Amino acid sequence: MKKIISGNKYSNDHLIYEILVIIFTTLSVVDLAIASMVCKSWNLASRSPKLWKRLDLSILSLKGMNEPLRPFAWMDEYSSQKITQFLKYTSSLSGGTISCIIFNYNVYLRDMHLISIAERTPNLKRLVLPISGNISKIGIETALRSWRGLKSITITSMVHYINLFDAIEKYCTNIVCLKFTYCFEQDHAKSLVKYTPNLKVLSIRSMRVNMRGLCYVLNNLEHLKVVNLSHSIILDKFDDELRIYSIFDVLSRVNISCKIIVCQRRSCLRCKNENMRNSRRLSNGSLEEIWREDEIICLAH
Ligand SMILES: *[C@@H]1O[C@H](CO)[C@@H](O)[C@H](O)[C@H]1NC(C)=O
Ligand SMILES: *[C@@H]1O[C@H](CO)[C@@H](O)[C@H](O)[C@H]1NC(C)=O
Ligand SMILES: *[C@@H]1O[C@H](CO)[C@@H](O)[C@H](O)[C@H]1NC(C)=O
Ligand SMILES: *[C@@H]1O[C@H](CO)[C@@H](O)[C@H](O)[C@H]1NC(C)=O
Ligand SMILES: [Zn+2]
Repeated sequence: MKKIISGNKYSNDHLIYEILVIIFTTLSVVDLAIASMVCKSWNLASRSPKLWKRLDLSILSLKGMNEPLRPFAWMDEYSSQKITQFLKYTSSLSGGTISCIIFNYNVYLRDMHLISIAERTPNLKRLVLPISGNISKIGIETALRSWRGLKSITITSMVHYINLFDAIEKYCTNIVCLKFTYCFEQDHAKSLVKYTPNLKVLSIRSMRVNMRGLCYVLNNLEHLKVVNLSHSIILDKFDDELRIYSIFDVLSRVNISCKIIVCQRRSCLRCKNENMRNSRRLSNGSLEEIWREDEIICLAH
């Protein structure tokens, strides 16, 4: 403090820098990008590594574009270019420190977005994909080649799981945490056992889960610690007959040391959301807000 009183320029600048960084921690990624354009000292502060651990695009409203409210929003060329620009700009501010990227659930993601952000975020550990987009085999491979340290992925149906697991096999041998968001079949189970042998956490909630696939994973992934099965239905088909299984059926068929989470007494976040009867929190659970809390935060690093 003495130095500041005596008017030491360096300390003064440094203090301003520290204060700006603290203020900037409260900003969204869009506001932070805007703040970085105000002046030299704001720009300097906006590049602090403290601000760029995660790139949270889950609430994203860019100039001239509304907050996307439904899948396939921003599919047009103009929006796509804006997203590319935005990703390039923010990742250049971050200086490569980003370890977690959360894409907006509804943004339409293309190869060029994924690849350009991947090239600029070599330290990525966790990736949350959006629900819609068009990612090719080469696109996902190129991205994962830059993301060799990846530990956790939230997988949506926008990328074909065979392409994804081919790329995982080549480049990402340290995956410990996976979340599926559409369904879980035997083929998924086989891919997991083959390509992610170190898996610790598997989230397959609110979906159809294949019984044999589930048992296969439980019996063969030796590091598995937690499987989240809340609100999922476990079923299988034998001789064209569909059977539904209870969690006890599963437990009787596997010998596991891993914890299985199911929702008891409607106690989970999703059920609480339903109970609130807030019009923005609709009960079908795919709305952004529920997704933010339930899908992301419970598995966020
Ligand atoms: C997805 O991208 C490929 C090129 O990478 C293109 O040929 C194809 O038509 C696109 N599909 C859709 C549904 O836009
Ligand atoms: C249960 O564990 C034992 C000992 O590790 C093993 O021999 C057996 O095959 C396992 N059973 C199943 C159903 O995987
Ligand atoms: C399991 O799923 C429920 C229901 O969506 C969620 O509320 C809970 O946070 C999840 N738990 C973990 C550890 O992922
Ligand atoms: C969720 O519910 C709302 C209102 O009932 C409906 O408009 C919307 O299409 C539903 N979304 C899905 C994915 O079912
Ligand atoms: Zn519940």
